Amino acid sequence: MQNRRDFIRKTALGTMALAFANSADAAIPMPSASLLENDEDKFWKLIRNQFPLSKEKIYLNNGTMGPSPFPVINAVHEAMRDNDINGNYGGWESTAEKLATFVGATADEIALTHNVTDGINIVCWGVPLKKGDEVILTTHEHVGNASPWLNRAKLHGIVIKTFTPAKTAAETLQRINDVITKKTKVIAVPHIPCTIGQILPAKEICKMAKEKNIYSFIDGAHGPGMLKLDLHDMGCDFYATCTHKWLLGPKGTGFLYVRKDMLDTLQTYFVGGGSDTGWDMTKTPPTYSNYVTTAHRYYFGTQNVALYRGVDAAIDFMNYIGMDRVEKRCRGMATEMQNKLLAMGDKIDMLTPTEAESRGAVVGFRIKGVLYTDFYNTAAKNNIRIRSVAENGLNSLRVSTHIYNNMDEVDKLMELVKGA
Ligand SMILES: Cc1ncc(COP(=O)(O)O)c(C=O)c1O
Repeated sequence: MQNRRDFIRKTALGTMALAFANSADAAIPMPSASLLENDEDKFWKLIRNQFPLSKEKIYLNNGTMGPSPFPVINAVHEAMRDNDINGNYGGWESTAEKLATFVGATADEIALTHNVTDGINIVCWGVPLKKGDEVILTTHEHVGNASPWLNRAKLHGIVIKTFTPAKTAAETLQRINDVITKKTKVIAVPHIPCTIGQILPAKEICKMAKEKNIYSFIDGAHGPGMLKLDLHDMGCDFYATCTHKWLLGPKGTGFLYVRKDMLDTLQTYFVGGGSDTGWDMTKTPPTYSNYVTTAHRYYFGTQNVALYRGVDAAIDFMNYIGMDRVEKRCRGMATEMQNKLLAMGDKIDMLTPTEAESRGAVVGFRIKGVLYTDFYNTAAKNNIRIRSVAENGLNSLRVSTHIYNNMDEVDKLMELVKGA
């Protein structure tokens, strides 16, 4: 009996080891940057090979989830394995520094979170508001930005005001200005709404907010990895985002930027190991000294360090290619697609603005006379993954393009649209 148990244990471990060896993908060398200058098509094909994406499917839904490339997957595997072999603990704080450099901030302004909604809740509950104070949002919110503010309205009586993003940045600014009153305390808008993917004029919005003594919060779910960011230049007070969309990082990793001079304004309600400078339960009464002087005050306790090694690898991956090139490629393909859709004339109801500064790597549209869910299903049957948008009654389609896509894939979708 003992032998048999031993045999099963050994076999099970053996199988696991084999599975692990198979699941850690051999590193595929990255194409040299000089190839991009000489043979751009080949460069992007080789970049595509860095992704485990199915060759049978066309994935045009990065706006929901960014597939990670092998260097990220392998970094997570290796760090998890290393930790479990050596019993290491900690090591996630260094990622805050890397993220800060990537988005034009400093390490002490970055709090690690698990997703965008985490960061939104920290801001929503931490910003000093009283009953009757007004907060401005759009009519194009994702549930992640809508529900925390609506919940605070429900529990604390703050008032939510909305505007609909316009076709131009100038008109959008005007619409925000029109809903500002003496009671407005926060402008809490998406950098890039999940619905039709237009880029809102974040810098100008933050400037307007500052001039009127209003806090500016940007829901940046779609910012890092699509756009080259400089948060100090943007001038926002707070910016919440994730790494699992456009940055192509591990799922369940995010971060919140809190501008340094806002640390003592944004109250921290949830605290734990890492948030404070000291506490003592042996004193009577017990003491709690102070919060740390950095954004670490907003996160605490044990984190998954393997995921953060994956975030490091995602940043290295982006930096290797260069954010200028990444942004050009993502936005370039979306612009080409938008032009192709516009060339279909009356058939298409284009929702994403055509103004250069307002369009990014996401295109939102309707096909006249075709139910959005029907076309979504047609695309799915043809192995093309896009997103249907039911939010805010838009009943539309959304297509996202990232560096691993190519125009052949977009053209296959365009043929389906033509035939719909
Ligand atoms: C604009 C926007 N905000 C917030 C979120 C919520 O993100 P998470 O699921 O990481 O909390 C999303 C997710 O798609 C989004 O598109």
